[in-house]
Amino acid sequence: MAKTYYITTPIYYANDHLHIGHSYTSVAADTMARFKRLTGWDVRFLTGTDEHGQKVENKAKAAGLTPQAYVDAIVRNIQALWKRMDIEYDDFIRTTEQRHERVVQQVYERLLAQGDIYKSEYEGLYCTPCESFWTETQAKGGVCPDCGRPVQPAREESYFLRLSKYQDWLIDYIERNPAFIQPQSRVNEMLSFLRAGLNDLCVSRTSFSWGIPLPFDPKHVAYVWIDALTNYISALGYGSEDDGLYQKYWPADVHLVGKEIVRFHTIYWPIMLKMLDLPLPRQVFGHGWLIIGGEKIGSSRGNMVDPTKLCDRYGSDAIRYFLLRELPFGADGNFTNASLLTRINADLANDLGNLVSRTVAMIERYFNGNIPAPEQDGELERTLEEHLLALPAEVERYMNGLQFSGALSAIWRVIGECNKYIDLTAPWILAKSEEGRGKLASVLFHLAEAARFIATLIGPYMPRTPARVLGQLGIAEPELMSWESLGAIHKETAGHSVKKGDALFPRIDIEKELASLDQPQTAAQSESAPETERSDVITIDYFDKIKLITAGVLAAERVPKSDKLLKLTLDAGDGERTVLSGIAKYYTPEQMVGKTVILLANLEPRKMRGIISEGMILAASDDAGGLRLLTLDGDIKEGSSVG
Ligand code: ME8
Repeated sequence: MAKTYYITTPIYYANDHLHIGHSYTSVAADTMARFKRLTGWDVRFLTGTDEHGQKVENKAKAAGLTPQAYVDAIVRNIQALWKRMDIEYDDFIRTTEQRHERVVQQVYERLLAQGDIYKSEYEGLYCTPCESFWTETQAKGGVCPDCGRPVQPAREESYFLRLSKYQDWLIDYIERNPAFIQPQSRVNEMLSFLRAGLNDLCVSRTSFSWGIPLPFDPKHVAYVWIDALTNYISALGYGSEDDGLYQKYWPADVHLVGKEIVRFHTIYWPIMLKMLDLPLPRQVFGHGWLIIGGEKIGSSRGNMVDPTKLCDRYGSDAIRYFLLRELPFGADGNFTNASLLTRINADLANDLGNLVSRTVAMIERYFNGNIPAPEQDGELERTLEEHLLALPAEVERYMNGLQFSGALSAIWRVIGECNKYIDLTAPWILAKSEEGRGKLASVLFHLAEAARFIATLIGPYMPRTPARVLGQLGIAEPELMSWESLGAIHKETAGHSVKKGDALFPRIDIEKELASLDQPQTAAQSESAPETERSDVITIDYFDKIKLITAGVLAAERVPKSDKLLKLTLDAGDGERTVLSGIAKYYTPEQMVGKTVILLANLEPRKMRGIISEGMILAASDDAGGLRLLTLDGDIKEGSSVG
C-alpha cells in the first residue's frame, strides 16, 4: 500500500478577499501534494476557512447580512480563486460546518473534564482586531505585539487552558525533534518564547456571539484559535464513528503556515494534542512573507495584489511558477510586477518556450514531423542523458525539504543545458549534408526526450503546461508521462508525430504591461518607484545565466577583407575557442597576444566571414567610437568566472 502524506494550509479568515500572499501558501501546498502524488504517495491535501470571530460579526453587520450569509459569499469567492489557480484540494473545511463544530465542543468537554480547562477570571489588555489578551509586558507601550494597534484593559469570567503545565514537556519535545519546526531559524524564537514562561491561555469569549458555544456554558464561545486549529483533525472525522480518514492520515506530515502563525501551531496546537493524547504533526513549516514596498501584503495596508487578475492576464501556471521560483520558501521576498514579468519572459518564454518551439520546428523541418530514433550518439548525448537521469532524484531531494525554488532552479539548469546543446550541435548545419543525418537524428531525439522529462517534472508546479508540451510532441501515453518513466531514456519517444502549437508563453512587452498594471503602491514604494519599476531591471538569477569568464589570448590575426575584425584564439580554461572581435582599429594582433580578456562564454555561436565565432570579448566604447578592452587587476587562471 502506498505511503500516506497529509498536508494542510492555514484555514484563511473568511472576512475579506484573499490576496497573492494567501495564494502563495496554497500554491506551495498544492504543488507539494501534486509532487507527492506523482511520486506514488497516497496524499490528503486539506484547506479551508476560519469563519468565526468578532471581526466577521462586525463586518457582516456593517454589510447588513447575517454572519453566515456573509461568510458564505466570501467562501464562494475563495473556492473560485482556488479553482482558477488549479489548487486541487481533497477537502475544504469550514469552521461553521457541523462536522467541525461538534469536534470543537467535544474537545472542550474532554479538556474540562480532565482539568486541562478551568474557569477563572481574566484581567488583561485586549486587542479587539486580533481577539487576543496580552499581559502588560507583552503589550509594550500599550499596543498589541501582533498588529501594533492599541489594546484596552478588559476583564471577564473565562475558561483557561492549562498551557503552563506543559511548558517543560514542549521545550524538551522541540529540542529532541529538530525537524518539527522548520525552517530551523524559527526554532530559537519559539524556544525563547517558551522559556520566558507560558501563561495559561484564555480560551473563551463572551464579548461576541459569532462562535462555537461551549457546551457546558453556552454564553461563552470558543476562542477562535482553539476553534481553528482543531480543523486539522475535525476534517478527518476525528471523534466521530466514521474516523477512517483520521486513522489513515493523522498525524499530518506538514502544516504549511506563514511565519506569523508558527507560534499558534508549535505551542498551542502541540499542547492541545498532548492533552488529547494524540500524536503531533511531523512538521510545521513557517514560510516567509511576500513583501511589497517593504511591507507585508495585507488587507489592512492597501497593498493587496489580486491573484485572479494576474492569472487572467498571464495564466495561472506563470503565476504559480513565479511564486515558487522567486523566493526561497523560508525567507521573505519582494513582489514586484517587474520581477514577475522579467521571469515570465526570461524563464518561460525564452528558456522553456524556445526549447520546445525550436525542437518541434526542427523535427518538422528535418524529419517530416516524426521524432527520429537516435543514430549516432556521442559524448554530448551521453552527458545530457546522465543529467536528465539524475534530475528526478535531485528535484525530489529539494522537494523533501520544501525547497521549491531549488527544485525549479535544477530543472531550469537542465533546460539551459538543452538550449546550449542546440547551439553546440548546430542542427541547421548538420542538416546541410547527408553525413550529418545520423547525428541530427540523435540531437533531435535527445531534445524531444529532454522535453518529455522536463514536461513531466514541471507538472506539480505548473499543472497546465505538461499537456501543452507533450501535445506538441505528440505524446499521449500515460506510461511516458509518469515518474517511473523518468528512470530511463525511452527510445519509445521516437516515432511520435510532433505538431507545432501556440507559443507556450508569449513574450510580454514589459514596459507597456507595467504601465497598464495598476500595481497598488504604498507610500514607501511610490517614493522609490523609479528604481523598482524600471523595466530593464533583472534579477540575480537572470544575471547568473550570463556566463562571463577570463580567457587568455593565444593567437590573433586580421580577418581577410575586414578592417574591423580580429580573429582571436583564446584559452578559455576548458579548451581553445575562436572568437571574432571588432577591435582591429584599436588593437593590433601583436598587442592582443598574451592579454587576459573577459569572455561572454555562452553567447550563441555566429558565423561571420566564413568563421564561426564562439563568444564575445568585453570592451567599453564611448560616444566618439573609442574602444578599450576590459582587463584584469592581477593574475588569475583562464576560465575563472566573472560576476
Ligand atoms: O491567520 N506572504 O488566516 P489569514 C505570505 N485564520 N503568506 C501570506 C501573506 C503574505 N504577505 N499574507 C497571508 C489566519 N499569507 C488564520 C489561520 S490556521 C489554523 C488559522 C498566508 O487569512 C500565510 O500562510 O490571516 C499566512 O499564515 C496566512 O495566509 C494567514 O491567513
